[in-house]
Amino acid sequence: MILEPQLQQLLIEKSVAARDRAYAPYSKFQVGAAVLAEDGTIVSGANVENASFGLSLCAERVAAAGAVAAGHQNLAAIAIATCGAAAPCGACRQFLAEFGPEMVVLLVDADGPENVRETTLKNLLPEQFHLDSMR
Ligand code: THU
Repeated sequence: MILEPQLQQLLIEKSVAARDRAYAPYSKFQVGAAVLAEDGTIVSGANVENASFGLSLCAERVAAAGAVAAGHQNLAAIAIATCGAAAPCGACRQFLAEFGPEMVVLLVDADGPENVRETTLKNLLPEQFHLDSMR
């Protein structure tokens, strides 16, 4: 899917804005994410940490779960804003694959949001797990 430049820009801006709402007092590593549903809806999220570190939530999963909970199960794209345009963790890649195996992934450097690396979830997670691959 090729994203319209204006929509791509909006998605990037929403991911950067969401990053400001991260709750990351332990790692100090703030992450913002914005997912684009097939119908054009954008839902954003940020990482939310916990004193019991293992309970911390990644921004990508917060955004994707928020979209699904709002009724949007088909995701076309995600923008992820971090310092240094980090790629999503492995767990988030698999989580995102559930709702957008073909999704476009925009890796945004929050310190210079014009620095965007565009890739795809297929590229980041070539062999996605599907439950029916067990059968
Ligand atoms: N984090 C994300 O939000 N997304 C990722 O893909 C990797 C890591 C968060 C979790 C934790 O709050 C902080 O970044 C440092 O690991």
